[in-house]
Amino acid sequence: MLFIVRKYLGFYFTAKTKYGIHSPFVFDFFNQVYDSNTSYYSFVAIEYVREKLKSNSNRINVEDFGAGSRRFGKGKKRKISKIAATSLQQPKMTALLFRLINYYNLKPVVLELGTSLGITTAYLSNANKNNTVYTIEGSKEIAKVANNVFKQLALKNVKLVIGNFDMVLPRLEFPQPLGFVYIDGNHKKEATLSYFNWALEKANEQTIIVVDDIYWSNDMIQAWDEIKENERVSLTIDLFKLGIVFLHKVQVKEHFKLKKTIF
Ligand SMILES: C[S@@+](CC[C@H](N)C(=O)[O-])C[C@H]1O[C@@H](n2cnc3c(N)ncnc32)[C@H](O)[C@@H]1O
Repeated sequence: MLFIVRKYLGFYFTAKTKYGIHSPFVFDFFNQVYDSNTSYYSFVAIEYVREKLKSNSNRINVEDFGAGSRRFGKGKKRKISKIAATSLQQPKMTALLFRLINYYNLKPVVLELGTSLGITTAYLSNANKNNTVYTIEGSKEIAKVANNVFKQLALKNVKLVIGNFDMVLPRLEFPQPLGFVYIDGNHKKEATLSYFNWALEKANEQTIIVVDDIYWSNDMIQAWDEIKENERVSLTIDLFKLGIVFLHKVQVKEHFKLKKTIF
């Protein structure tokens, strides 16, 4: 906890508000995607399902494939309500991911590494129903809950793949290029970099890749630093909770840290 607070303070004092942005592209991102309050009908239904998960006291077996969880430690039985309260991306951020796909018209394939209970997947799915959303989850009982969420929300464009990312990715067949990739599982440096490099091979200049929890550990901070250095990366936006990677051609590579308010 103290680690994250220290990192947040460091981020906060170096991040810019919209008044410090000189790039027209990033200024537009700030207004249209990051700071937009546009809400959609689908959000209401998804958030209703999230609330139901938060009051579900059933316990499920959770296999841990990643770097574990600060709150739970490695592999245990967990209440669905606890997973829903602590492991899922928060509504503001899921709405942001939705807007990224929507605003930049990212298609035809969306990939999420780390489905958990499927709430973020539901946002990714609704952002463009013509896309196909592949989402991968290693833990079978978690995946079962996610599958029920997809049924409740009648999502037709989601393909849930159960298995370890390391085993699934090399065999995954899908129409390329990847439009949008969300890396949100196994927060280890080497694993994160290998998923990122795998995604780069299937990406084009329009693809956007989001890496979650870039300040989660020193390992993740190093992974994010290496991602920024990659020669195909043209622009990055660090929002503390997650990092956004753009691959479109620019004259000068730039990295931004953004916050909404001065205080
Ligand atoms: C932080 S949660 C994902 C949250 C979800 N994206 C959301 O926003 O609601 C990470 C998930 O990734 C899964 N996971 C972690 N490492 C994995 C791996 N190597 N292979 C498959 N699944 C993995 C975990 O079981 C966990 O459910």
